[in-house]
Amino acid sequence: MKEIKIFSPATVANLSCGFDVLGLCLDNVGDEMIIRKTQKKGIYIKKVNGYKIPLEPEKNVAGVSAMAIYEKLKVSHGFEIEITKNIKPGSGIGSSAASASGAVFGINALCGYPFSKKALTKFAMKGEAIASGTEHADNIAPGIYGNITLIRSYSPLDILEIKAPEELYITVIHPQVEVKTSEARALLGDAVTMSDAIKQLGNLGSLISGLHTSDYKRIGNSLNDYIAEPKRKVLIPRYNEVKKMAKSHGALGSGISGSGPSIFVLTKGLKKALKVKSDVLPIYKDLDIKVNCYISKVNPNGIKILE
Ligand code: HSE
Repeated sequence: MKEIKIFSPATVANLSCGFDVLGLCLDNVGDEMIIRKTQKKGIYIKKVNGYKIPLEPEKNVAGVSAMAIYEKLKVSHGFEIEITKNIKPGSGIGSSAASASGAVFGINALCGYPFSKKALTKFAMKGEAIASGTEHADNIAPGIYGNITLIRSYSPLDILEIKAPEELYITVIHPQVEVKTSEARALLGDAVTMSDAIKQLGNLGSLISGLHTSDYKRIGNSLNDYIAEPKRKVLIPRYNEVKKMAKSHGALGSGISGSGPSIFVLTKGLKKALKVKSDVLPIYKDLDIKVNCYISKVNPNGIKILE
């Protein structure tokens, strides 16, 4: 095989109580990438459609991730990458992670799958680091594994896969202001109080239990964030109004998707998700901001081969 075309899905990280450790894979929004073997050695970013992104591989998240896997492959050819970005950078649904994961997935597939999903996650984290300043895997892992992933440990890397309850729907609301992950991380500082840590841990344990037992009420009750949301919500236009509206329409709960500005809302069933979608746009009607909205189930497969 000389060339592969893939779909690299968007992801929702943190899920309120799982800062830097939890993430889920969406199923209908994502980037398309073509990865091709080249005679010339090295990694080349041939084209990026959709958004203005550097083509120098060392400045491009896909390029840096590709170089990380390439160094370990020891092959006598190179690879070139074309990216059609459908996920806006700075949207909070794992735009950089989709490019990073897609690049390493595609190269691994073209070489006959020598590396495990965990190894691919480590390579892609190198690319994620140039976008956000840290090697966090909570957007990378759900793209590569599918489903919901929990990073139990970063060192050594230990990733658990969690299946989502059948009727769980995610509505992602994206008011199009740009939030850079590196800047949203800088807001957080590096200390958490003992009382906030206790509350966050209680919610995280409870959310995992709710997901395992398909206890929708418990899932909703657990979507509380004492670490990132209090400091980041100011970056997101009409954040409190969207949360209030979602709750009043019977959503299980909601929170900031990754570092924002996207907001995720969880519902049991499609009908409630559609209601949230139809009622969210009026919240922004007097602001001069474009708002995108996606409804998705949890994608159990992650990155998909198209051709
Ligand atoms: N866990 C990361 C953060 C996700 O919240 O900074 C970034 O998408």
